[in-house]
Amino acid sequence: MKNTIFAFKNDSPKYKQIYEQFKSFIEQGDILADEQLPPIRHLADSLQVSRNTTLMAYDQLVAEGYIRGEGRKGYFVNELEPLVFQEALKSHSKKQTESAKPVRVDFRAGVVDQTHFPLSIWRRMSNQVLTFQKSFLYGEHFGEMCLREQISEYLLQSRGMKADANAIVIGSSTQQILIYLGLILKDDYPSITVEDPGYDGARNAFQFHHFMLETLPVYETGADFSKLEQMESRLIYVTPSHHSPYGVSMPIQQRQTLIQWANQVQGYIIEDDYDSEFRYTQQPFPALASIDSARVIYLGNFSKSFLPGLRLSYMVLPQPLLKRYKNQFLHFESTTSLLSQLTMAKFMEEGEWNRHIKRMRLVYKRKMQHLVSLLKKQFEQNVSIIGEQSGLYILVKVHTKHSEEQLIQRAYDGGVKVYPTSPYFIKNNTDQPLIKLGFSNLSFGEIQLGVNLLKKAWLL
Ligand SMILES: Cc1ncc(COP(=O)(O)O)c(C=O)c1O
Repeated sequence: MKNTIFAFKNDSPKYKQIYEQFKSFIEQGDILADEQLPPIRHLADSLQVSRNTTLMAYDQLVAEGYIRGEGRKGYFVNELEPLVFQEALKSHSKKQTESAKPVRVDFRAGVVDQTHFPLSIWRRMSNQVLTFQKSFLYGEHFGEMCLREQISEYLLQSRGMKADANAIVIGSSTQQILIYLGLILKDDYPSITVEDPGYDGARNAFQFHHFMLETLPVYETGADFSKLEQMESRLIYVTPSHHSPYGVSMPIQQRQTLIQWANQVQGYIIEDDYDSEFRYTQQPFPALASIDSARVIYLGNFSKSFLPGLRLSYMVLPQPLLKRYKNQFLHFESTTSLLSQLTMAKFMEEGEWNRHIKRMRLVYKRKMQHLVSLLKKQFEQNVSIIGEQSGLYILVKVHTKHSEEQLIQRAYDGGVKVYPTSPYFIKNNTDQPLIKLGFSNLSFGEIQLGVNLLKKAWLL
């Protein structure tokens, strides 16, 4: 065992500090299995603590299985499961690298702009909602009707959809909805086509139900439908408004082809209308579900358009599926916070939702333009920018011999966090690395700093 130097801090009990120190030695392999720990008396003397303190630390380690007492012989280290051991090592080395390199700019995509969040309005409405008597109940199984009515109105106005409020089901996230939906689909539709590349979170939900997966290749310019007829699946999951991750929108001809296909095979299209609110060049395209609602399961959510932590999303189900869904989940309580639902309904009813979307479209458009112009200036022909017409991130195709991993590491070493796109790809890989840069919660200054640091880190 290494020579141990304990430097006690004042903010936690000494026994706990001794316990934590030994635990981390064991997890990191500094003390090996079957090695003996110092006798209680020796340790207490050398640390100038009471024997009781040392005993309490050892008792805790025994209780958690790190060590065992062998009577008079003393305490010995137990064999650890390699997995536990490796996880601890991983998190330890992660902590070390994280603390070693300060991140100055984080181009994370799954966040929203904090400075423009309508905090005082939301707070006022939340407080009002807390005075409602129904706020103290469980809420309706398939979501609050007042919210479903607001969503129905919004879908008509902004997505051209005629969605009956009764056909809307509120859930807590896209994945949760897909998991529930999977339960009513998997027997009749054992396989599903997914976009490649495509949203890995949806794919995980389908894999959870052991759907067989077929793939629809998608490129920067859009999807390749040439093999659609040969697919076995009668179910397809797509992101037509803002493809994840390329950001392209599906042209009307392809939307019609897809609807025709679904009618022909008597199948369903799962339309994830993610990020549809933020288009910067033209008006948002109408939803697939506005062309033919009988064959489309429409998914919407409030994560990027409002607040991801709210965990509020919804789906619109065609009649036969709605009936099946309601039968299946008749005795299940809602998965979504009643308070959030009621507050959001109020927020929409009073016109704040529309104002918010309008304001944020402008905020994000300016940030997007700023990021794109800086990247073009700094990197010129060395990068291509993908997806600048919509959404809260862009993809940067880097013309380099470096891999995605190397680019991310170099950026990180230079104080910038950037993100991979490889998790989206199944077999349709790209020829050059594609890096994802989110900008939603960065200030103009941070965007500029981030691009400057990237330029230095990538040396392009
Ligand atoms: C295409 C797509 N749909 C849905 C989601 C997430 O939805 P939620 O916030 O409801 O979990 C993501 C998240 O990045 C996404 O990329």
